[in-house]
Amino acid sequence: MCGIVGYIGKRNAQEILLTGLARLEYRGYDSAGVAILKAKSINLIKKKGKLRVLIDALNAHPLGGGLGIGHTRWATHGAPNQINAHPHIDCKSEIAVVHNGIIENYAELKRELTKEGHEFKSETDTEVVVHLIEKFYDGIPLEEATRKALAKLEGSFAVGVISKKEPEKLVGARQGSPLIVGLGEKENFLASDIPAVLGSTKDVVFLEEREMAVLSKDSYRIMDFNGTTLSKKPNRINWSVEQAQKQGYKHFMLKEINEQPGIIEKFLSARIKKGANKIIFEEQTIPEERIKKIKNISIVACGTAYHAGLVGRYALESLCNISVSVDVSSEFRYKKLLIGKDTLVIAISQSGETADTLAGVKEAKRLGAPILSICNVLGSTLTRQSDGVIYTHAGPEIGVASTKAYTAQLAALYLFSLYLAGIKNILSPKEVNKYVEELRKIAAQQKEILKNQSGIAKLARRHSHFGSFLYLGRSINFPSALEGALKLKEVSYIPAEGYAAGEMKHGPIALIDEYRAVVCITCESSVYEKMFSNLQEIRARKGKIIAVASQGDKKIKEQTQEVIYIPKCIEIFSPLLVAIPLQLIAYHIAVKRDCDVDQPRNLAKSVTVE
Ligand code: AGP
Repeated sequence: MCGIVGYIGKRNAQEILLTGLARLEYRGYDSAGVAILKAKSINLIKKKGKLRVLIDALNAHPLGGGLGIGHTRWATHGAPNQINAHPHIDCKSEIAVVHNGIIENYAELKRELTKEGHEFKSETDTEVVVHLIEKFYDGIPLEEATRKALAKLEGSFAVGVISKKEPEKLVGARQGSPLIVGLGEKENFLASDIPAVLGSTKDVVFLEEREMAVLSKDSYRIMDFNGTTLSKKPNRINWSVEQAQKQGYKHFMLKEINEQPGIIEKFLSARIKKGANKIIFEEQTIPEERIKKIKNISIVACGTAYHAGLVGRYALESLCNISVSVDVSSEFRYKKLLIGKDTLVIAISQSGETADTLAGVKEAKRLGAPILSICNVLGSTLTRQSDGVIYTHAGPEIGVASTKAYTAQLAALYLFSLYLAGIKNILSPKEVNKYVEELRKIAAQQKEILKNQSGIAKLARRHSHFGSFLYLGRSINFPSALEGALKLKEVSYIPAEGYAAGEMKHGPIALIDEYRAVVCITCESSVYEKMFSNLQEIRARKGKIIAVASQGDKKIKEQTQEVIYIPKCIEIFSPLLVAIPLQLIAYHIAVKRDCDVDQPRNLAKSVTVE
């Protein structure tokens, strides 16, 4: 997820672009750049690192000019560095482009354009866009050339385009990534999101799928990808900048909980070759032959990522018939490791900077194990120490409590399990296909759960006074119980413990009384009857049960009226659904208790120290 800003008008573009980019930093911040037209040439300044680096460079050498585009990057293709930063320009330095999204067919386009003589400077997917525009930009208006170029793209994009040949024009277009038009007095704007233009204007036109905008300082035209002009009324936005950065949600955590279906959808569409349902991990560079030979898997991670690893173990063991161990990194790094070249070590980390995980990986490498990391931050330390990477592409996760990164990690583990089962011929292509089709249903099922947020919020608030919680789950949802408990304690500071429900009789049942809330994961599964017995035991001791159950389950009401229903899905993928009500329970209890949801006390987003 990146941030785009464009400006055309009477004022100094540099100042407008930098202010806008600063308000989009929550969308990505590993590098940034601007392209500003001045005296008929495009001035390009790009810097690795946070926006501050670019601001300092421009303050030292200001660029004049009233037409420009800017970009703050969350790298998906190509390490975060100056060359890969946007904007990107064509061979003749006549056109500049900024892009947010993923061009899925960029490799073949790059090959074709290179053959046609185009010179590429970066490793990004974006650069194919500016060379495609250059290819078509011959005797036709910039918006025409842009439209022809976009017709060649597969995947998601929001683009901003300028050309020195048409200094009175700013072009934008979107497919799968957001883009808005801001309307001012003798000036107009493009941006990925509302915060970037608030302060200059409150009048905004939202581009819909496959729509383009052609802006001058005095006018704007919206059209579809066939060139047909559309009439669209501006919307008056009365949000503050902060409200707009959260897209109207009260906290980043709630916004990120709601982003999950879209992230899973994009993750799967980028990883599964259309039609063939062939699973591809382009940045997974451990040779397939080596992966086929591994004899066991060792997963290492911390916190939420560790819980994802526990789910991953169930998936890998059941789909790939392979032995899997899972350790918290702070234990892994100090224990005697029985691993070697036949062990695949999977390191899971949202940030890619967690000190204990990095130390564990270093130890594993010393013992000759190949390292596959599942990570959300391209170019982070962990990815540079790995032999192969699967990026989760969840975009920046601003809330300290991990939500969207967790379900994206699960999706990566599920897909890797299916890939491994396929290449080891444990599952036939047809069987892999069946699982892939079930995985594709998850996003819609998550959306269905999110439609009931107000009901879940009310239930959470009814239980916000409890002084402690127990979370119980079985089998693949035992890790879901651990994760649900972690979410609650992280953001609400209420003591909460996740437990394997079958362990109740071995101690935890002593805790049960009317003062304890017990969250029971009782969705349809091979262990439903066993879970149901646990609910009977809890009810008999007056425990306050909150049940997460499958739609249609009426029997559960014999034990509790406090039920959150989720759609039915195949058991192995149910953690992707169970996670959402548990995240929402934690969130709404924390809000009810006036906790600092996005920055809970004592916590850091990335634990870069031991
Ligand atoms: C999760 O909500 C916490 N923020 C924390 O447990 C986190 O998962 C853990 O610190 C690991 O971080 P990483 O994924 O960046 O390695």
